[in-house]
Amino acid sequence: MSPAERIEVLRREIRSHDHRYFVLDDPVISDYDYDMLVNELRDLESAHPDLITPDSPTRRVGGTPSSTFPVVRHPVPMLSIGNTYNDEEIRDFDRRIRDMLSPESEYAYAVELKIDGVAVSLRYEDGALALGATRGDGEQGDDITANLRTIRSIPLRIAEERPLLNNIEVRGEVYLPHDGFRALNELRAEREEPLFANPRNATAGSLKLREPRIVAERPLRVFLYTLRFEDEAGALAEQPELDSHFQRLGWLAAQKFPTNREARRFATIGEVIDFCQEWEDRRSSLPYDIDGMVIKVDSIGLHGELGATMKSPRWAIASKFAAQRATTRLTDIRLQVGRTGVVTPVAELEPVFLAGSTISRATLHNEEEIRRKNLRVGDTVFIEKGGDVIPKVVSVDLGKREDGSTPFVMPTACPVCETTLVRVGDEVAVRCGNAACPAQMQARVTHFTARNAMDIEGFGPAVTEQILENGLIDDVGDIYGLTREQLGTLERMGERSADNLLRGIETSRDRPLDRLLFSLGIPHVGERVARQIANCFRSMKGIMAASEEDLVAIPEIGPKIAESIVSFFQNERNLEIVAKLEEAGLNMALALTDAAEGGADSRAADKIFVITGTLSNYTREEMAGLIASAGGRVTSSVSKKTDYLVAGENAGSKLKKAQSLGVEILSEEETEALLSEKRSS
Ligand code: IVH
Repeated sequence: MSPAERIEVLRREIRSHDHRYFVLDDPVISDYDYDMLVNELRDLESAHPDLITPDSPTRRVGGTPSSTFPVVRHPVPMLSIGNTYNDEEIRDFDRRIRDMLSPESEYAYAVELKIDGVAVSLRYEDGALALGATRGDGEQGDDITANLRTIRSIPLRIAEERPLLNNIEVRGEVYLPHDGFRALNELRAEREEPLFANPRNATAGSLKLREPRIVAERPLRVFLYTLRFEDEAGALAEQPELDSHFQRLGWLAAQKFPTNREARRFATIGEVIDFCQEWEDRRSSLPYDIDGMVIKVDSIGLHGELGATMKSPRWAIASKFAAQRATTRLTDIRLQVGRTGVVTPVAELEPVFLAGSTISRATLHNEEEIRRKNLRVGDTVFIEKGGDVIPKVVSVDLGKREDGSTPFVMPTACPVCETTLVRVGDEVAVRCGNAACPAQMQARVTHFTARNAMDIEGFGPAVTEQILENGLIDDVGDIYGLTREQLGTLERMGERSADNLLRGIETSRDRPLDRLLFSLGIPHVGERVARQIANCFRSMKGIMAASEEDLVAIPEIGPKIAESIVSFFQNERNLEIVAKLEEAGLNMALALTDAAEGGADSRAADKIFVITGTLSNYTREEMAGLIASAGGRVTSSVSKKTDYLVAGENAGSKLKKAQSLGVEILSEEETEALLSEKRSS
């Protein structure tokens, strides 16, 4: 197969996997195998730059950062739609349609979820994505093609040959699913960047970024719902074969465009209303936000007959949901001391049920937030759930404010240890500077033992408090020295629970370096940052010796995080804790560093490996990491150039191919041995 042919095969395969992963949510290969395909394509393309085309899956992120977006005029305005808020208004809409159409007209409705995101338009010319734009004022929007290209579910090339059309325009809604929104805000919190209020704002903010590289890191998705065909002159082309909106959605899906699969077609307005009601009840089960339903006359031919007003088409209407909002009473504002001493005000609420759960607490972030929202203890407040499902106090019902209530005043001393609170630099937050503050200690232990950190079973809040109160530990470094005798002295701690706790501590010794690093609770070092740092420096020693300069060289690590890490390891107390943890035998380096230290003089250096089948002690990704750190290279397909095939259980065609080519086949154990062997031996 020629490089050009192989490149085409790879592109087709990658497009198909992107579609399975990002559109159908049903991947058929592992991330690792996918990465291998992309790597192979990248390698081939860099060896044959003349074969690079703009619709290659490797070209999603490109262009240079722009200072402004060019303005583009929409050939057909992007209208908005009228809103309805109850069944009667939906019936009115139906009556208007019936009155406007001739009596013998039969019509049906297509009903879709109203995605709470940002509207965009995509133009495909000769099958390739040529322009992506925002709605703007409806007449003209911003050319954000480079940003939209990074959304992996958007095809850069239409999948099939289409005898039906020349150029097409598709429109839809870009959105951020809840999990992506939560991850994005967590990362922003780590970096002390302002949080996005909801997924829609995060989406809008992301699409306006000047750097496509950063947009590419945001897990944006899209649902497309409007399709317009153009004739050769760019004018609207009739498409009698596809006269139904519902059919067009099907056509879009068949061309591998992401479409929402919940759309339905109904013959009567009663069914439409029932369907809208059903979704109003079920909306919180979706992994993304919707703010209503959109009801559209299904026949495209009738759209022309019905026409539009200045603002919106007459053939469509939105049925808006009531906000997921509740009122309750703010019974108290409690101060919570975090592990770094930051004091956060928390709203204590009279418990109220909202969208699937009972809410009795919500963070108020800081003093300024309370002042801005004008909150007082005793107030009746409105609470809402954003896309992250974390409840927020949105505003006060001032009409219900009780006489004699007083504004909230932030105390000047720590509510737990009474140390005077200080404001750090220009931050809004205030901190308790006493590292031995019991509340801070408790928060640090809670962080250390948490499920996503060292995951020590049995270390609940009550046990932690008791252990600290009785002085059994001074810091997290002492956890591994706890004895059964000590635990036996605690009230309500039976032998069984003591044994369980000790077993929990014991099993946590094996947690990998990145978890341990995260567990230390270094300000701004979240799980993701910890993973990157651990992978890069490979040992605690290396991390502790790193300078700010070394640290900022890692992608995603900014000066703030770097400074925080360096100053953490300059602190005597912290060094003591790390020393205790090392003494306790925790993982102070990435697993199997022996192999890694083989480095350039390992027998694996510069050798080409392919991994296949299921390994018993590693994931394939881990094995690839080991090989890479011993200086070997991992590729995805077996060829004459392959030096070793690492074969696990159920190895299939790759094993056969390797055998036929005479490639050396290694078991997992043989690979481990090879990786730690020196070249000379
Ligand atoms: S149709 C001319 N369908 O809602 C009709 N819009 O208020 C164009 N939206 O600007 C819109 N989901 O941003 C349509 N399934 C859906 C939608 C949807 C969300 C947004 C879109 C539009 C706004 C109208």
